[in-house]
Amino acid sequence: MEETYGHDGTRPMSGAEKVDFLDICKLRQSCRGFSERPVEHDKLVKCVEAGRLTHSGCNSQPWSFVVVENPEMVSEISKCGRQLKQNAFLGTAKAFIVILEEHALLSPVISCFLDSQYYAKGDLGAAAAYICLEATTQGLGSCHIGLYDRAKICELLDIPAEKQFGAVIALGYPAGDAIRSKNRKPFEDIVRFV
Ligand SMILES: Cc1cc2nc3c(=O)[nH]c(=O)nc-3n(C[C@H](O)[C@H](O)[C@H](O)COP(=O)(O)O)c2cc1C
Repeated sequence: MEETYGHDGTRPMSGAEKVDFLDICKLRQSCRGFSERPVEHDKLVKCVEAGRLTHSGCNSQPWSFVVVENPEMVSEISKCGRQLKQNAFLGTAKAFIVILEEHALLSPVISCFLDSQYYAKGDLGAAAAYICLEATTQGLGSCHIGLYDRAKICELLDIPAEKQFGAVIALGYPAGDAIRSKNRKPFEDIVRFV
């Protein structure tokens, strides 16, 4: 029987436990309204562990993570992302994960040809995706937030003012359970097999 492996990398999973990754991709959606239910610390640990396990150029891991779970701080951070009217829902978020961009230490061979931060943006985007997908498997809603007051977040979280962000991700239990159909470009328009 074909074997797949569990989170610890060693435990064989039975067919019954096997998760269809595409189903997780379809279930993940930007959540724009969270319920009152607080998020368990262990679930946040799993989300950020998924970020830590993300692949990166030359395995340089150009990231660090700040998990905001203290309710007063969550409320303060939520205020930093509400410039867009559309982002008013952040007031209902129960946690945030801020992904910080760290220096990408590429292999010396690659560094000869490329600026060391060349791959970092892609790596950070991948880490954000891993976190959101893990949140989905935990039954949590997530929303990657693009517009926020970076300087204010740095001040609140004691982050050096010059630090660049990879992403700010809002988390919580979704207020509703409806799964929207995906609004995506048609497969045939963007995929070519040769
Ligand atoms: C870099 C980035 C920034 C985003 N910023 C916001 C945001 O500020 N507010 C928001 O409601 N959604 C934001 N989103 C979510 C996108 O609007 C969403 O992913 C897209 O419309 C696809 O919908 P889905 O995530 O529900 O599949 C952002 C997504 C990414 C990747």
